[in-house]
Amino acid sequence: MQVEGKVFVITGAARGLGLAIGQLIASKGGICALVDLDQAAVTAAAATCGEQSKGYTCNITQEAEVERLFEQVLADFGRLDGLVNNAGLLRDGMLIKFKDGELLDKMSLSQWQSVIDVNLTGTFLCGREGAAAMAKAGNGGVIINISSIAKAGNIGQSNYSATKAGVAALVTTWAGELKRFGIRAAGIAPGVISTDMTDSMKPEALERIEKVIPVGRLGDRKELAETAMFIIENDYMNGRLIELDGGLRF
Ligand SMILES: NC(=O)c1ccc[n+]([C@@H]2O[C@H](COP(=O)([O-])OP(=O)(O)OC[C@H]3O[C@@H](n4cnc5c(N)ncnc54)[C@H](O)[C@@H]3O)[C@@H](O)[C@H]2O)c1
Repeated sequence: MQVEGKVFVITGAARGLGLAIGQLIASKGGICALVDLDQAAVTAAAATCGEQSKGYTCNITQEAEVERLFEQVLADFGRLDGLVNNAGLLRDGMLIKFKDGELLDKMSLSQWQSVIDVNLTGTFLCGREGAAAMAKAGNGGVIINISSIAKAGNIGQSNYSATKAGVAALVTTWAGELKRFGIRAAGIAPGVISTDMTDSMKPEALERIEKVIPVGRLGDRKELAETAMFIIENDYMNGRLIELDGGLRF
């Protein structure tokens, strides 16, 4: 797909990886509908993505809000060509914590559910409404789900790992279901990419992580954005994930 003049919805795009993807799309002449929870932050983000891009406030866990979002994007731009399901949440914790034979703590249902709601249900809702909008617009399209290296399972991330395996499975499911509309679906499973969160970590902690990454450093958000661009531009990339992790294995 050629990016110029095409319209992309990117969730969780007020900062971090979503914003980096939006800025790269905009640099190639694409138009971005940047979606996040906070109006001021997402409006400021949209201002860095070219004159035509716009910011939208939407909580992707809320069905009615997601339905309204995609109706509004179609009304504003008259087309939809791509969706990046990027919004995500971490609420890490062990399944159970035991000391001296006593149960000290366990992952609460709300800790589990909050991550399922954003990462999995939010991706489902945006994928469903995005696919419907692209099918309606009739120009084909592409959906990118941002998974994680944690899709294979990771200690302290029962909730997060389950959602990231879920969004990886949806890529294959959607590629099969949406082929009749000319819509591709693919994903990225990043390792550790430098964001505001990693920028604020202690240098010693960062060094420890970098030591176990074969490439010897964190990924750069520009490298992540370029991977999303590869998926957008390469029409044979479908139904699979790209593992962008510098060779890291937990
Ligand atoms: N940064 C990494 O190293 C890394 C590694 C693997 C996977 N990922 C995944 O990449 C994606 C982006 O990561 P990031 O580091 O840029 O995260 P981030 O926390 O910087 O940004 C996530 C954005 O999602 C938004 N968001 C959260 N809940 C939302 C909701 N209900 N509705 C709408 N927006 C919501 C937040 O407001 C935030 O702006 C996430 O899915 C994350 O799991 C990141």
